[in-house]
Amino acid sequence: MRRLAEYQRLREECPVAWSDEHGGYWSLTRYADVREAARQPRTFASGAPIIAWPDFDNQIPISLNPPEHATYRRLLNRYVSKDAMARLEPTIRAFVVEDLDPLLAAGEGDIVTGLCQPLPARALAALLNLPDSAHVEFVEQFRGFERVGWDPEKINAVIGQMFESAVSEVVAERRARPLDPETDMLSGVLAAEIDGQPLSEETVVHIGVQMFVAGHATTADALATTMYRLATNPDIQMELRRRPEKIPTAVEEFLRIETPLQSIARTAVHDVELHGRTIRAGDRVALHYAAADLDPETFEHPSACIIERSPNPHLAFGAGAHLCYGAPLARLEMRLAMEEILARTSEIRLAGAGTETSGLMRGFTSLPLRFSTP
Ligand code: HEM
Repeated sequence: MRRLAEYQRLREECPVAWSDEHGGYWSLTRYADVREAARQPRTFASGAPIIAWPDFDNQIPISLNPPEHATYRRLLNRYVSKDAMARLEPTIRAFVVEDLDPLLAAGEGDIVTGLCQPLPARALAALLNLPDSAHVEFVEQFRGFERVGWDPEKINAVIGQMFESAVSEVVAERRARPLDPETDMLSGVLAAEIDGQPLSEETVVHIGVQMFVAGHATTADALATTMYRLATNPDIQMELRRRPEKIPTAVEEFLRIETPLQSIARTAVHDVELHGRTIRAGDRVALHYAAADLDPETFEHPSACIIERSPNPHLAFGAGAHLCYGAPLARLEMRLAMEEILARTSEIRLAGAGTETSGLMRGFTSLPLRFSTP
């Protein structure tokens, strides 16, 4: 849920705020504080990343801390390198075109079920070298999250039953018939050693599961809010059709102003004094990336959507050691979706009220749009 007025009040009046909900936690909302906390993993440790889900763990690498965390990131980074993204680009562009074609032919439709949800599932399947058909099941599983209403207890059960079994099968398959470890993430991780020991199959499954948990809903919501921004801003649409080279800075501005993953949790390792308050060792702390991204101390006219904004040091992908692993893939999907939809339409409009995502995400679970084609 978006709480813009509350974010503003907290930033201005109570930058280190205590809440008794969910067992008690602190909220940081100012850009400088949130960024600093994200960059100090030895003070604000990762573990259970969601305030409302204290028992949600086993997520690799997001639940790990230094020095173990960096070892895993080093293992994984090559699969989202510039070269890796350049290899994926034609495949992802083809997915965008395939998903858009029926919507544009019909002249209207739900962009979320038509493009924003399938595209990240297809991109993740491509990233892990799974058959494209696998994405249908993954989208269904994410719809399962919506059905359980992001209830923390049920979420763990959904992940356990559905993802682990699907990802476990692929991991077993890669163990039996490895692909090139330089370009295939699961084969590479299965072949790797940490401190002279191979990773357990369970660890590899947790890495695979993390990609889908971290990379699907976030990107689906980023794409949905992007489409919403386009549909409700004819001037931006027109400008980007005329000057498509501005799309990459527009992507950053949409990420800043919407910040799809609104906050993330840390745990204080030792006592910390901040703005006159004492955060005690063991206290849970929410880093409100969405509040930070609207902080007027960092962003001039923070609620204005300025597609040329540069520099744009937003925190939609976090900061520091845990900076989003999948950011290059998410940016690629957003850019290609915008390039294709703008090139193939002369006008995009809302065709009804959408349904907003609930919980800690900012996005839409449905968004009916109408398209005019040239
Ligand atoms: C627009 C889409 C996305 C948004 C807004 C987003 C947001 C974030 C944020 C804010 C973090 C930092 C969490 C923290 O501070 O602890 C993060 C971490 C992460 N994201 Fe993303 N993400 C997106 C897409 C993706 C994709 C596509 C993938 C998978 C390919 C992915 C995989 C991860 C992983 C593995 C981490 C943990 C990194 C670590 O702990 O080192 N994300 N993401």
